[in-house]
Amino acid sequence: MPTYDNILVETHGRVGLIRLNRPAALNALCDALVRELGAQLQAFDADKAIGAIVITGSDRAFAAGADIKEMHGRTNPDAMMEDFIGANWESVLKVKKPVIAAVAGFALGGGCELAMMCDMIFAADTAKFGQPEINLGVIPGAGGTQRLTRAVGKSKAMDMVLTARMMDAAEAERANLVSRVFPADQLLPEVLKIAAKIADLSPVAVQFAKQAVNRAFETTLAEGVRHERALFLSLFGTPHQKEGMAAFIEKRKPNFQ
Ligand code: CAA
Repeated sequence: MPTYDNILVETHGRVGLIRLNRPAALNALCDALVRELGAQLQAFDADKAIGAIVITGSDRAFAAGADIKEMHGRTNPDAMMEDFIGANWESVLKVKKPVIAAVAGFALGGGCELAMMCDMIFAADTAKFGQPEINLGVIPGAGGTQRLTRAVGKSKAMDMVLTARMMDAAEAERANLVSRVFPADQLLPEVLKIAAKIADLSPVAVQFAKQAVNRAFETTLAEGVRHERALFLSLFGTPHQKEGMAAFIEKRKPNFQ
């Protein structure tokens, strides 16, 4: 397993786990961390032994946002030339396998945006979500105004973005920002179980399912339904469809690997 300065990497069976690991800065997303995260996501995506990926932080923070100390001196031309908050930050969006965020503690600014780029967010009851960039004289820059609005609706997104207030886990679940909430000490074991279940399914069906749901955010209903149908029909050309349906009829567990 490669070693990095700002993330820790583990595998749990067919699940790849990435822990953001800058405890002294509450996992603030400095350039080096973002680069390392992108490299490891790409590595897990290319690894046939991995079927799902989990990104988590510490008990105290998933990530407290982009690194303010690093950003402070940035000038506009530098930021433009370096494509700051550009391709590197979006590496998670290029992953074909499911990427799950397991959030405990703070998920603020870029931390909340990173979680929202993942396919699902599971939260500990200690989680706190927020887009406090307005306090710094800026606005969210990694998709916060767009993905938060799609997740929780306009009024609550405006409330979060304009007042910088934090949303706790219970509110985040009610508002559909997160899928499920677990007691803090059970978050990672529960998320690893969910990820393991997904990782044992047909990798092609899982990839297509992810693609189809994500398409719902990008297109019209009619085009999305056409896209879904094309993916659905193409699965009938895979051995996984034969195996999955045969296993149901024969009353046994399917083997997709
Ligand atoms: N960048 C750099 N360092 C950070 C950081 C950040 N985003 N967030 C926390 N830290 C550092 C603190 O500076 C502190 O370091 P020192 O001990 O060296 O001073 C350490 O982490 C612990 O933080 P606090 O002492 O502040 O801890 P706290 O418990 O009192 O407060 C907090 C926790 C409420 C999360 C507070 O740290 C905070 O408000 N952090 C900033 C959150 C924020 O504004 N995020 C948005 C960043 S901008 C962005 O993300 C842009 C974008 O859209 C991509």
